[in-house]
Amino acid sequence: MSDFISNFWHLYVAGITLVSIIACLILLWFSGKAKAMTANDNTTGHVWDGDLREMNNPLPRWWVGLFIITIVFAFVYLAMYPGVGNLAGKFGWTSAGQYDAEVAKANAEVAPLYAKFSGMSPEEVSKDPQAMAIGDRLFMNNCAQCHGSDARGSKGFPNLADNDWLYGGSPDVIKATLTQGRNGNMPPMAAAVGTPEDVRNVAHYVLSLSGSPHDSLRASLGKSKFGACAACHGMDGKGNHAMGAPNLTDDVWLHGWGENAIVNMINNGKVNQMPAQASKLTEGQIHVLASYVWGLSNKTAVAQ
Ligand code: HEC
Ligand code: HEC
Repeated sequence: MSDFISNFWHLYVAGITLVSIIACLILLWFSGKAKAMTANDNTTGHVWDGDLREMNNPLPRWWVGLFIITIVFAFVYLAMYPGVGNLAGKFGWTSAGQYDAEVAKANAEVAPLYAKFSGMSPEEVSKDPQAMAIGDRLFMNNCAQCHGSDARGSKGFPNLADNDWLYGGSPDVIKATLTQGRNGNMPPMAAAVGTPEDVRNVAHYVLSLSGSPHDSLRASLGKSKFGACAACHGMDGKGNHAMGAPNLTDDVWLHGWGENAIVNMINNGKVNQMPAQASKLTEGQIHVLASYVWGLSNKTAVAQ
């Protein structure tokens, strides 16, 4: 595997590495040969503090020996480990490989712990203080950067601690969301709705669905245009878990509230992604995390 985008950089780096080591050897050889100007008494002629003279003795043998050992070491090292451009070295070591091996080892160590939880239902796991401490830690490390440390989300990132779900809040659905990720996709709808006025009218109709402040004349004009939205959001606007189409009647707004935000959604659509965790987390970890997330909005069940 090459980490360089072109062979040139491989040769460039390999060249610098090898030339530097050889330059060290030449320097050593040269400094053993060359004579500094001496005043025939084996001094350099430099005198300090009246009588302190700088001698011109050869480098000590032991020091030269060490120097050569380090150079031999460098060649042996480069033969065994990566270092010369993108040559892998005899051992085939990579930092990514070492990381994977350490993760696999750590996962194997904690596997018995997760095995215990995997045998329990998500409802039971969410009542287990040890499992919830682990879930909390996993959430902080893997999810909080998007969903917030209190799991309440922010604009574009859903709140996981309420009872409003894009895809559904049963433990199984949460688990599927984590494992495979989700792609929320609303296409731009302006063309299907009609004129910019029609778009504004539908936006007011959408606001009326949740009893939010709206212009009722516009809302009644927009109602008939909502048919274009019904395929995903439902005729009643209550959304559709299968498509991740949000409920528009509950006054919970993932992408902002008000006429402008809704007009914007209709004109531009939205692609919103929840990254799949299957390659990052083990099945056991996903089971504990799904139980943890389920527990956030089912506090009474957890308290029992
Ligand atoms: C890079 C940001 C990001 C990370 C990291 C992330 N998520 Fe998400 N998550 C999102 C987005 C964005 C959505 C909404 C997807 C959509 O709109 O279709 C989402 C949706 C979800 C949903 C579905 C909510 C619903 O209402 O149905 C759940 C559950 C969820 N995430 C849990 C998690 C957990 C648990 C983690 C940690 C393993 C996590 N997410 C990590 C961005 C992220
Ligand atoms: C093909 C399916 C589809 C159609 C048709 C569709 N939507 Fe959506 N809509 C979605 C999805 C999916 C999302 C959530 C995007 C995401 O994952 O963040 C969404 C989000 C929204 C939001 C944001 C809700 C919030 O909580 O912030 C609004 C408002 C909205 N749609 C209004 C409309 C209107 C009005 C129409 C008709 C003109 C429409 N949608 C047509 C699928 C659709």
